[in-house]
Amino acid sequence: MLVDDFGRAVSGVRVSLTDRCNFDCVYCHNEGLGDTRGPMDAQDHEMDTDDVVRFLEVAREFDVEAVKFTGGEPMLRQDLEEIIRRTPDGMEVSMTTNGTFLPGRAPDLKAAGLERVNVSQDALDPDDFAQITKSGAYDQVIEGVEAALAAGLAPVKLNMVVFEATAGYIPRMVDHVAANDGLQLQLIEYMPELVGNPEWAVDIDRVHGWLEEQADRVEHREMHDRRRYYVSSEDGDGEGMVEIVDPVENEEFCANCERVRVTHDGKLKGCLNRGDDHRPMGGMTKPEIRETFRETVANRVPYYGEYLVEEDGEWVLNEKYVRKPATADD
Ligand code: 5AD
Repeated sequence: MLVDDFGRAVSGVRVSLTDRCNFDCVYCHNEGLGDTRGPMDAQDHEMDTDDVVRFLEVAREFDVEAVKFTGGEPMLRQDLEEIIRRTPDGMEVSMTTNGTFLPGRAPDLKAAGLERVNVSQDALDPDDFAQITKSGAYDQVIEGVEAALAAGLAPVKLNMVVFEATAGYIPRMVDHVAANDGLQLQLIEYMPELVGNPEWAVDIDRVHGWLEEQADRVEHREMHDRRRYYVSSEDGDGEGMVEIVDPVENEEFCANCERVRVTHDGKLKGCLNRGDDHRPMGGMTKPEIRETFRETVANRVPYYGEYLVEEDGEWVLNEKYVRKPATADD
């Protein structure tokens, strides 16, 4: 496995297959690329099937153990099943989707080798859902979750971005996953970086505190420094698992980050929140991909928050990381 200058072995890759999406969620960071929402038809700048597979083969050479496909909406790619089928053995395959295309396609994805799925579900009310996602497809999302469960893709993780428009739904969402078998909840702290609207953020520590009160038990996974809260349903019949993803201003989170990312147009990047280290993989030959992969890992920073420092009211690159990677005696 490739290890960066800060001791993190790169065990996972997150591959954006397209920046197209049939939703337009108000909070969306779009993999750190800004607003690139465009036509829904297949676009030339997207990696083609062979490009994606070649990249995955190189990642596997470097002992990468897991790939997560994302977007945009990855299910807008009609070759998704083929990509999953051709993903090298030994790599766990998961996907983050808005869920609308799962009805009808979930069994094929499962048959192709998809192991797990995250579905973005930010509310339990069609009107609020429509306001957040700028789309009215709530029923389709619920059907999508059911289709994934029926296809054997359990547990389905529901992704909920925690910000002012959704915070009020947390108790109901927690009860929803507790009362329904096969569901888990991932509460993701709203990341205003690259999106704006920092005033939408809510205090994630309060959410931790509230969950701790609700939980029957809390599990602490040392490796990723993540807590798992197990909460009983209100009717007492079920139990649900809830995790919080809280990267904002959290050095610990970055210290545990073992993943690099690929943009839909075939650029490697070492951090979701960096805009300056995107490296095109050239013509996407294997030697070019290998070299770019090594460079990206070598160029990772320990903590993106410290990587950008405020100077005279402006965010600028921290000199320490521009000139050279930090060493043990820095
Ligand atoms: N902050 C936090 N999470 C976000 N997501 C998208 N934009 C943001 C943001 N600004 C999450 C959504 C989606 C996943 C791909 O990324 O939960 O499911």
